Amino acid sequence: MSAKAHHSLGHMIAFWTRRIFDKAVLWIYCKVFALLLAMFLCLPGRKRMSHDNGIAGTGTLRIVDNPSFPAHDFFAPGREFPVRIRHASATFLDDAMNCIRSMSIKFSHDRFKSPFDIEMNTGQTSLFWSAVSFLKFAKLRRQKYGVEYRDFNRRYPDGLKGSMEAGRRHASSFENLRYNCKTPFLYNGSDGLRRYAKYRVIPADGAPETGIDPDPSEWDQCNQRILPHETRGRNYLKHEYEDRVARRGAHYKLQIQTHPASDGEDPEVFNNMVLWDEVAHPWHDLAEITITETLDWRESTMTTFSVNNMPKSLGVIPAQSIFDYNSVNYMRAHSEIARKARLLSYKLFGMVPPIPDNDNRNVEDWGV
Ligand code: HEM
Repeated sequence: MSAKAHHSLGHMIAFWTRRIFDKAVLWIYCKVFALLLAMFLCLPGRKRMSHDNGIAGTGTLRIVDNPSFPAHDFFAPGREFPVRIRHASATFLDDAMNCIRSMSIKFSHDRFKSPFDIEMNTGQTSLFWSAVSFLKFAKLRRQKYGVEYRDFNRRYPDGLKGSMEAGRRHASSFENLRYNCKTPFLYNGSDGLRRYAKYRVIPADGAPETGIDPDPSEWDQCNQRILPHETRGRNYLKHEYEDRVARRGAHYKLQIQTHPASDGEDPEVFNNMVLWDEVAHPWHDLAEITITETLDWRESTMTTFSVNNMPKSLGVIPAQSIFDYNSVNYMRAHSEIARKARLLSYKLFGMVPPIPDNDNRNVEDWGV
């Protein structure tokens, strides 16, 4: 073997050793985090990691008749699915607090089983950008009396920006908020080309978004407590949603943005803190969603979603290390045990009680 060939073989071995090591660290990191979450939060606390306070509904979803997005067999024009959605507030059990709100969608009427799930939060960007960043976010939460993330926000101004953008206080309805999946997913279309996709939901009638504080201070953002003299109850948004759906249903548009993959892709494409330029990546209507029924507390609480509920061609983008932007979704994909521990906790210790309308504001624990 020539010296040159020997040298390049050495390089190759070093490259693959590093790659395997990084991937193994990522796997262990995510499995250990999920196990700790399951053992110390979900099982004993009968809790979701976040978003415990929510209401689910069912209806139908119809893929648009004339798609302007790249063709995909799963999203065939005019295809209809039964749909179950869940709106929630992260993380407190009090709708009147300044919370991130969410809409999660599954293309089925089941509590869990579905060919496609997508979880979305308010705000366009996120509060963390990799597995490492997410762990810091979790570690520096330091929540007390409805005040949280002071230390994380001071250390990571990008996280603060994301949380300022996502917080919604006094929204008038879950229906008029904008929800974004933030992280990109695979989109291997019918033409065989590899692309990436982001999803969002907007109200079908384009009603203006409510609940946005146009200029929150750093302190306002950490202090998510209800305002003094608050008149809204702890369940006001869920009650409003029940009434609205019973009266006229709730109507949304699911939209999609795609990005063609290329060799030597700029990693920033995967960074959920960076928006894709809307001129190069316009939003296309993907489906119309109509919700006709809301579900009771028990059924809403039993409803759960997963990034693993997706066809392979639309699933999670592979991640290489704990610093990789795609490790956010890799981490979610490896956190099933946390969800299972929560559902097991109801069997062992009983279903969690509905949230009382008033008493004990600014809390995140059951029975407080
Ligand atoms: C930008 C990224 C993320 C978004 C948009 C997101 C969104 C959501 C939403 C909307 C829910 C509530 C779903 C429901 O109504 O039941 C949720 C729950 C959850 N998320 Fe995330 N999430 C993200 C990142 C993560 C990460 C990094 C982890 C780490 C493991 C994670 C783990 C979980 C878990 C364990 C639950 C509760 C599952 C259950 O018990 O049903 N998420 N997420």
